[in-house]
Amino acid sequence: MAKHVVADLREKCGTPASLLRDVASEIADEMGAGLEKEGGSKVKMLLSYVDKLPTGREEGLFYGLDLGGTNFRVLRVQLGGNEKHVVNRESREVTIPPHLMSGSYSELFGFIASELAKFVADEERCTNSTNGKKRELGFTFSFPVKQRSVASGTLVKWTKAFAIDDAVGEDVVAELQMAMEKQGLDMHVAALINDAVGTLAGARYYDKDVVAGVIFGTGTNAAYVEKANAIPKWEGELPNSGDMVINMEWGNFYSSRLPITEYDQELDRESLNPGEQIYEKLMSGMYLGEIVRRVLLEISLRSSIFSNIDHTKLRTHFLLRTPHISAMHHDETPDLKIVAEKLEENLAITNTSLETRKLIVEICDIVARRAARLAAAGLAGILKKLGRDCTAQKQRSVIAIDGGLFGHYTKFRECLESTLGELLGEEASKSIAVKHADDGSGIGAALIAASQSQYRNVE
Ligand code: BGC
Repeated sequence: MAKHVVADLREKCGTPASLLRDVASEIADEMGAGLEKEGGSKVKMLLSYVDKLPTGREEGLFYGLDLGGTNFRVLRVQLGGNEKHVVNRESREVTIPPHLMSGSYSELFGFIASELAKFVADEERCTNSTNGKKRELGFTFSFPVKQRSVASGTLVKWTKAFAIDDAVGEDVVAELQMAMEKQGLDMHVAALINDAVGTLAGARYYDKDVVAGVIFGTGTNAAYVEKANAIPKWEGELPNSGDMVINMEWGNFYSSRLPITEYDQELDRESLNPGEQIYEKLMSGMYLGEIVRRVLLEISLRSSIFSNIDHTKLRTHFLLRTPHISAMHHDETPDLKIVAEKLEENLAITNTSLETRKLIVEICDIVARRAARLAAAGLAGILKKLGRDCTAQKQRSVIAIDGGLFGHYTKFRECLESTLGELLGEEASKSIAVKHADDGSGIGAALIAASQSQYRNVE
């Protein structure tokens, strides 16, 4: 019976190259539709108002604040200018207390501002080098934001595990600025950006061939540089650079071609945002462990391979997390000891046979492989939209990727890279590189703050 459940899962999660090519084409089409008009596609294609990316010439001390999925990070960078890049950098990571993800906006931002204040106080103890200038900050806020300018915008909706009622429609920067003032912090928010935009900026700072920034972490998203005159919904004056970075919000992509199983449907129905972020729910770190948990529960209810276990834990949503399935998936011990450990620690499943443990590794493989292959289709979709997916195209294109899923789940990353090669073909692949941009998004915020600095023309 258990084997039957797994065979069925394997079949339903199938992602043959032909299906992935169709998905890539649909993503490219949806990108066009989203640029055409507001609400033209489920892929929102939000304007970031970032019209120039860092060049390497930025100079000075800047702060970054990165609020994403599970953690938030504060960082301080000293930029050397003249291609000297980052000459000094310090950062601190803080876990977001889960109750703040569904509390109130002022509580969440109050917490963030107080952590930021501590971090700034450390700098003041060491140096006193602000030269009478206000400190400037780039804020990476990793949710869909409708921007009004590069340093203001309102939240469209929450994603991932966040659900704060009073926040939607509020100006994110005004809220942060207020919370900072309460902490006595006299800082200027020079940029409000998405983490995918930050990843693009952070990577472009070092490599001018970077065309897109992508996140595979708790959530997933992509940003890329578009020609402003190819954005019909853009109503403002064309920026001098002629370019505009687009925050795609591709996590909300949907197609009837996506290989969705009954586990995914139930997960979606019971999620904080039913019917939304369907692509994200198939392939981001928040959900992969949860999909596997649902499959294990089904197996347990329909077979006796876990003997007579207490189902309390196995029934608890999100108890099995993606780092756990990654650990099981990469278990190379002959008796799959790590699988046994993870099952026991997290789900109270004990005394499994080796055959059962092998079956569990297979489930992890099916779920992670589907995710990685769909992710590769997304990258192929962007390259297609940019006209950089064909053999005739010799210009080098780099896609910078950040996020824990890509950084830590080796088999996910390997499968993503090999699938992209499969989709593009040998010749076109030669000019495409995928690069891990570790902490690109935090640095990116500080860099965009630097390029938007209110003091930049004074000097
Ligand atoms: C959010 C995006 C974000 C992505 C990665 C998604 O859930 O909607 O704005 O970039 O997660 O953090």
